[in-house]
Amino acid sequence: MSVAKPLPHDAAKLHVTGMARYTDDVPTPKGTLHLAFGLSSIAKGRITSLDLTDVRAAEGVVRVFTAEALPAANDVSPSIHDEPLLSDGAIHYVGQPIFCVIATSHLAARKAARLAKVEYEQDTPILTVDDALAANSRFEDGPRVYAKGDIETALEIAPHRLQGTLELGGQEHFYLEGQAALALPQDNGDMVVHASTQHPTEIQHKVAEGLGVPFHAVRVEVRRMGGGFGGKESQGNALAGACAIAAQMTGKPCKMRYDRDDDMVITGKRHDFRISYDVGFDDNGRLTGVDFTHLVRCGWAQDLSLPVADRAMLHADNAYDLPAARITSHRLKTNTQSATAFRGFGGPQGLVGIERVMDHIAHHLALDPLEVRRRNFYPSGGSISGKMKVGVTPYGMEVTDSVIAELVDQLVEQSDYAARRASVAEWNASNPILKKGIALTPVKFGISFTLTHLNQAGALVHVYSDGSIHMNHGGTEMGQGLFQKVAQVAADRFGIDVGAVKITATDTGKVPNTSATAASSGSDLNGMAVKVACDTIRDRMAEHLAELYQTTPQKIVFADGQVQVGAESIPFGHAAQLCYEGRVSLSSTGFYKTPEVAWDRIKGQGRPFYYFAYGAAVSEVVVDTLSGENRILRTDILHDAGSSLNPALDIGQIEGGFVQGAGWLTMEELVWDDAGRLRTHAPSTYKIPAVADRPEVFNVHLFDNVNASETIYRSKAVGEPPFMHGTSVFLALSHALSDCGAEYPALDAPATPERLMMTADRLAQ
Ligand code: MTE
Ligand code: MOS
Repeated sequence: MSVAKPLPHDAAKLHVTGMARYTDDVPTPKGTLHLAFGLSSIAKGRITSLDLTDVRAAEGVVRVFTAEALPAANDVSPSIHDEPLLSDGAIHYVGQPIFCVIATSHLAARKAARLAKVEYEQDTPILTVDDALAANSRFEDGPRVYAKGDIETALEIAPHRLQGTLELGGQEHFYLEGQAALALPQDNGDMVVHASTQHPTEIQHKVAEGLGVPFHAVRVEVRRMGGGFGGKESQGNALAGACAIAAQMTGKPCKMRYDRDDDMVITGKRHDFRISYDVGFDDNGRLTGVDFTHLVRCGWAQDLSLPVADRAMLHADNAYDLPAARITSHRLKTNTQSATAFRGFGGPQGLVGIERVMDHIAHHLALDPLEVRRRNFYPSGGSISGKMKVGVTPYGMEVTDSVIAELVDQLVEQSDYAARRASVAEWNASNPILKKGIALTPVKFGISFTLTHLNQAGALVHVYSDGSIHMNHGGTEMGQGLFQKVAQVAADRFGIDVGAVKITATDTGKVPNTSATAASSGSDLNGMAVKVACDTIRDRMAEHLAELYQTTPQKIVFADGQVQVGAESIPFGHAAQLCYEGRVSLSSTGFYKTPEVAWDRIKGQGRPFYYFAYGAAVSEVVVDTLSGENRILRTDILHDAGSSLNPALDIGQIEGGFVQGAGWLTMEELVWDDAGRLRTHAPSTYKIPAVADRPEVFNVHLFDNVNASETIYRSKAVGEPPFMHGTSVFLALSHALSDCGAEYPALDAPATPERLMMTADRLAQ
């Protein structure tokens, strides 16, 4: 069995030796040209004059083009065509591309782009959610509302009631490899594009529309990304589009990569949220109902903001069975970068909202927050007194697979939570400056694209006559290990070693009409499609071999690199050769669509998810209340990856997701000035977690579980859910501060040292 083995990432050696080839490393033909955008310096207004004389005259410049010179569509939007590749005269944010320089080198293009003389007529920009609400600047006509039960009554009858507000900052993706694309012009106007993208099919579409050609004239290839994290679902469209258009104009290969500062200034980030709540509960902390309002800062273009904001609403319950709930979501349009997908896709923001509520209730009732959480968990899946006991989400979906209660019990045990909480209290009683905190937070995350038709995938598998295998599918590799997991599936279907399976670059010419590799569904979807393709070939082989050896196909076994045919055992390669000689087709496509999902996003009712992934984390921190400096002393995570396809890769995803989630909530801070300029546009001013920021003790385990839904080998998606384990650090910091005064700390995120220090000061007064 290749499946379930903790095999290393297929490109691990290439990654660590610097030999892995990324888009910018693809060897380019002589004469390749380089692109850079000229960017707007104001947030809102119109261009009144654009003088590009000096840009055109600059050294190395081959050509400069603006929107007027575009051959066809001026649009790179993944949704409602509201995002021009180059400004049509209107300016929507600081950093918007206005013109494009084609030059003989990357540096020449960038230097020339700065020489433009642009004059504007400025408007007052809408920068904050308050500005946007005041101006009624939004996407969709009004807020979306999802509701369960009678929230007004639930709040009225509650013995206790609390209100609060929580600010959650955005987050820069900070993929190590920035956005990059390379367009190679082909015979008769066709175009081949290499791009660092999670969504090759969308790049194909956008390039074709930009060139004014059918989709078939464009082929997009992606071997790997150096991280995507959602930031390469739609944000690469502009680079690929510009490269293809420039390649068509000049007849030369054209490439583009954003410098880190440009990448941060131009591209969208995680949506920041303001979440307010009104919650009712009883003496034990059991909720009667909760009313949430989400103010979502979407930036200037719609991009993926509607499904992101939806997913935030769909995670406003997290692991809790709410008797009544109402979630109201305002999708606000502002003159800032167009916020986009980022690991969790809005889910983390929704989830942190209810986790804050649990913490606030526990503080109010002087209970251990873990107890309040436990009292509100969804009931465990399975049979209770012969009858299925289920919880129902605020959007009407039954939760039948919950393992959260058992999982948390096990984690409490493994992490020694109770004793450590007691010793934190002891420590705090005798230490006035250094305060400790501990928090346990659960995760329940819905798996599937909420846009139902995206839940499909294709594969293409060839068996060569020597028994080696060429495997291709629509998923993309961004470091998460998808290719290796799916190769393990292919190897397992043929009973061969995974080394015999060639992992090949994602290619729109091999598998068409794909979805973005997103929503953590890469291995669920592509694993199944590859399995279908492999099984088709295997069945054909079995049938032919059965005929040759005068037995029945059912008796033929593929295992250990051999094919067992009755008493005989022949090497897989020999079997492939026999099938070739017997004129058996050894190539097949495979197709899969997720069953059972159906969702009405306007009504907010249905089954958006095939199943849920679960997990929980306990973090212990120490804070210096005079400076706000802090450290994570220990984190324990127990995570449900179902029956894991590859435990080593899954644990890697959990560790990385946790660190990235903790970074979002504690140290990564985006700052815009009053003119709408992003001031934190480089690692000098934007701090992501470094190796020293990981917990001093870090225990990560997989929860022993099998997916109740019929996924590939009963595994569960693992890409995004662990991100939310970072919430345990945020609430542990809050717990540490709760010892500074009687009031609830009501921390906003990111809980930077400055914010922690100021909160400690405020509480002490
Ligand atoms: N892991 C690494 N190393 N790099 C990434 O860019 N992206 C995350 C997650 N894990 C990412 C990652 C995001 S946002 C998603 S949706 C999933 O991987 C996508 O891959 P999967 O569907 O194969 O899990
Ligand atoms: Mo992930 S945010 O769904 O690319």
